[in-house]
Amino acid sequence: MHVIVVGAGIIGLATAWHLRRLGAVVTIIDPAPAQGASHAAAGMIAPAAEVVWGQTPLYPLMRSSGELYPGFTAEVASATGAELGLNSTGTLVCAGDRADLQTLRELRGAQSAAGFTTELISGSKARAVEPSLAPSIIGAVDIPDDWSVDPRRLSAALLSMTTETLVRETVTEVVRRGDTTIGVRLADGRSLEADQVVLSTGSASITGAPVLPVRQVWGDVLRLRAQAEHTPLLTRTIRGLVNGRAVYLVPRPDGEIVLGASSREDGRAATSAGAVHRLLQDGQRLVPGILDCDITEVTTRARPGSPDDLPFIGRADDGCVVSTGYFRHGILLAPLGGRLGAELALGISPDWLPDGALDSVSPHRFSEAAPVSNA
Ligand code: GLY
Repeated sequence: MHVIVVGAGIIGLATAWHLRRLGAVVTIIDPAPAQGASHAAAGMIAPAAEVVWGQTPLYPLMRSSGELYPGFTAEVASATGAELGLNSTGTLVCAGDRADLQTLRELRGAQSAAGFTTELISGSKARAVEPSLAPSIIGAVDIPDDWSVDPRRLSAALLSMTTETLVRETVTEVVRRGDTTIGVRLADGRSLEADQVVLSTGSASITGAPVLPVRQVWGDVLRLRAQAEHTPLLTRTIRGLVNGRAVYLVPRPDGEIVLGASSREDGRAATSAGAVHRLLQDGQRLVPGILDCDITEVTTRARPGSPDDLPFIGRADDGCVVSTGYFRHGILLAPLGGRLGAELALGISPDWLPDGALDSVSPHRFSEAAPVSNA
């Protein structure tokens, strides 16, 4: 079976990895592999901390993918010899004031109902494990099983296994014969055919591809580095609510700290000065020491958002599977999305999925019929 995967972000790369494990011959196509949302991502594997109201169908997906992560990263690390920056120290979700603490208390109810282990701890207990936390933190939710990974290292490791099968080109058209996808056309004029095409193209729209309601949600992210005498500034992911605004700080084993992220639907691809200002302002309310750090990078990328914040993973026609719209959860859901996309392409029944999960991510869920092609 020859499968073309369009898009080499974390989802396309994870899909290609699973396809190869299942014996498929894979061609993966992207003009700039791993340079989209995956390049900006902080890499939180945080199924519990990502629980927000009204997204019940998302919880089992996040939980299942979080459980797949240790095995997935162990296999990738052993196949490539790469160090993936996995941090299993856990996460503290901190409250800046009483109103934020009340919100965290209520959210904890939803996290517990979804089956996650969390503990509400005092501000002083939080500071005992993370001394860089601000004295003003009045409480925190301790989530030991919410980890993080370095998405750039993970993408690079997955990419290192695609060298012979990677085509650095833009796909200009998904080619169909009748109702069935048979391949793709490239910007350089070439056409490639395959038994199956998997579209992991984020928010990009391609002629002939199914039209899905995926929108761009821009995120600005800073990368910081503490002065040597203050390293490590943090040992675990610090998330928090500051005046109701969410902010997170994700430390890497090498001392880098990722501070994120804005969430803008203003159509501006350039970095927003206001967003950077707010991130630093909110971040320093949780960890004042970030203001002594160097800013090593500011990155702005678009997340591919769907109307219900669930991805689109499923068959579009006899020759095409879509796997996109992962919004905030591309890194967290990569093991699940990669495995599911690969199995659907190869006609394997994903009987390991939680009940109802396949329907919840159906690309047809916002339309009565199949997604419409824009051919
Ligand atoms: N996954 C976190 C974010 O998108 O900001």
